[in-house]
Amino acid sequence: MDKFSITGGVRLEGEIAISGAKNSALPALAACLLTADRVTLHRIPPVRDVGTMQKLLAHIGASVTHADGRVIVEAGAIRAPEAPYELVKTMRASSLVLGPLVARCGRARVSLPGGCAIGARPINLHVAGLERLGARVTQEHGYIEAEAPNGLEGAMFAFDRISVTGTEDLLMAAALARGETIIDNAAREPEVVDVAALLIRMGADIEGAGTSTIRIRGVAELHGAEHEIIPDRIEAGTFLVAGAITGGDLLLRNCVAEHLRALIAKLNQAGAEVTEPAPDTLRIRRPGKLRSVDVTTEEHPGFATDLQAQFMALMTQAEGIAIITETIFENRFMHALELARMGANIRVDGRQAIVAGVSRLSGAQVIASDLRASASLVLAALAAEGETIIDRVYHIDRGYEKIEAKLARTGARIRRIP
Ligand code: EPZ
Repeated sequence: MDKFSITGGVRLEGEIAISGAKNSALPALAACLLTADRVTLHRIPPVRDVGTMQKLLAHIGASVTHADGRVIVEAGAIRAPEAPYELVKTMRASSLVLGPLVARCGRARVSLPGGCAIGARPINLHVAGLERLGARVTQEHGYIEAEAPNGLEGAMFAFDRISVTGTEDLLMAAALARGETIIDNAAREPEVVDVAALLIRMGADIEGAGTSTIRIRGVAELHGAEHEIIPDRIEAGTFLVAGAITGGDLLLRNCVAEHLRALIAKLNQAGAEVTEPAPDTLRIRRPGKLRSVDVTTEEHPGFATDLQAQFMALMTQAEGIAIITETIFENRFMHALELARMGANIRVDGRQAIVAGVSRLSGAQVIASDLRASASLVLAALAAEGETIIDRVYHIDRGYEKIEAKLARTGARIRRIP
């Protein structure tokens, strides 16, 4: 397993180009199953999770080719409408093929995702939505089996709680259902808007993506399309924190400020200076001291849970007490334990973590546990004195394209140890 060696203390300066969004690429790739025609997707990040999804599409029977960020999918023949355990256990987002497969070929067999470091991660809401559209769903031997031999019927479905991939799964299924579907309490994440934009290019009739109520009028079939994935707001947010925690001056290219309003507000309150010198460009400097600010994660447009771990690392360097409340996942403070090993002063109490700063961080051997927790360890290591060794960086490779190269180009002393 690869490790990272990071020696902290460098103020990062320079430019970073943001890649396409992993959490937009995954549903977009699943959406390709809805048509036999060729779909071309641009700016697909070559990260592990995307590789897993491409393997899954190939297993299902689609032809998948990719070169320099462009992926071409032709799901002419669906050979096996299923997502086997071997693939799902490494990436729960495989459940995104459930809706498209039921809509396209009337049945799907998807392994239950099982838990992961941050929580139970059930897909009961995905299933409830598909049942509302007329699918018959059973569960056995760790698999969900969904059937709709006579196709799906549009219906009104309200999510008990907001689910990003739940909304995307249902949106893709409803695109080919007979009649109209209304999704209430829908997720409003930019990635939901992006997959809706792709579906509309493929001929779907969708209104309201990005709001809590999405209306879909089903069509008989969808056709091929070309689409460019939106920039990765979580990668961009991670690098904004890197600029703030090292007291540097970073310019991020190809990012959408609109997708990061909550984080930008908190960074500015904490004493950093985030500006927008040009469209699709963000600049972050942190001339003075950091101040503690409280954060509560919420569904978009609130503060993203995927940026909570990164912000916690930053708050270890801020004067005062920061209370971080995680409302989305039940166990997303694993990084606090590793940060404490580097000298951070953090007390976890249920859904809240109390971070007292400023604590002098010193390099240590730490272990990554999930994708965003790993990112927070990288950020802490950039601010720590001495060398930090981060083990199991495959967690980072799931969602960040060449993070060590991007950081090294701005002066970070980081290298990968195979
Ligand atoms: C998406 O996961 C993202 N993944 C996650 O990013 C992100 O953390 C999460 O949304 C929240 O923003 C992708 O888009 C591929 P949810 P998702 O369904 O859709 C509960 C990363 O780091 N729930 O919005 O799986 C669930 O347990 C990843 O890139 C149910 O109870 O999250 C959670 O507590 C990590 N039943 C809450 O809802 C369901 O059927 C929100 O989950 C579905 C979800």
